[in-house]
Amino acid sequence: MRISLDSVSVEWDGNVALNRVSLDLDQKNIAVIGANGSGKSTFARLLNGLVKPTSGRVLVGDTDVQADPKTAQRQAGFIFSNPDLQIIMPTVIEDVEFSLKPRKLGTTETSALARAALERFGIGGLADRRAHELSSGQKQLLALAAVSVTDPKLIIADEPTALLDLRNTQQVAEALFGLQEQQVVLVTHDLSLAARCDIAVRFEAGQLIEIGEPAEVIARYRRDYE
Ligand SMILES: Nc1ncnc2c1ncn2[C@@H]1O[C@H](COP(=O)(O)OP(=O)(O)O)[C@@H](O)[C@H]1O
Ligand SMILES: [Mg+2]
Repeated sequence: MRISLDSVSVEWDGNVALNRVSLDLDQKNIAVIGANGSGKSTFARLLNGLVKPTSGRVLVGDTDVQADPKTAQRQAGFIFSNPDLQIIMPTVIEDVEFSLKPRKLGTTETSALARAALERFGIGGLADRRAHELSSGQKQLLALAAVSVTDPKLIIADEPTALLDLRNTQQVAEALFGLQEQQVVLVTHDLSLAARCDIAVRFEAGQLIEIGEPAEVIARYRRDYE
């Protein structure tokens, strides 16, 4: 999908979180980098309507996010850093089934879709486990299953590996980069993950600083902090 911001600003009580950002993106995997407080999460949240622009316009696909928040939410799933905050139901399978509730499918179909989603992320064997007992990495895979089971076109992951060790980070990265049906916006401080994306976007202090080849954007980012 085309992600398009036209002179978008976001302000909180007079503080500018994003300052007149315009961009056009349609790459499969999009990295978003920049220092803490630079506006990355604000950008990510604009894309599914969690944050509203103070001025300007956000288009995702054919959807004007502010004019049609329902579609914006349906077409974009969101993954947060803390997987505990995303678990809604007691068991793993129930948690994925819960995402399908609005579809009002039969129990057999719901259960089959949920199991297939778990299999896709390699956690089919954990279906009947208590969700809160999973490892952090497994919880993020569960979040991915629960979000992707409704077939969103876009997955926005805001520092999805921030709380994970190397091994779990690797698992979640493989799952994200392995997504066949979804475009991914990956906000991350893990520059090795950013480097694997098709394009990188860098924010600093609410400004869009640079968009381009991840290797180049990352190299300049590192240089600025040396
Ligand atoms: N809900 C909010 N209320 C007030 N200020 C906020 C809110 N969300 C973000 N901000 C401010 O906006 C700026 C950008 O924040 P954020 O987009 O979360 O940055 P990042 O994700 O890059 O760390 C920061 O100065 C932050 O304090
Ligand atoms: Mg953030």
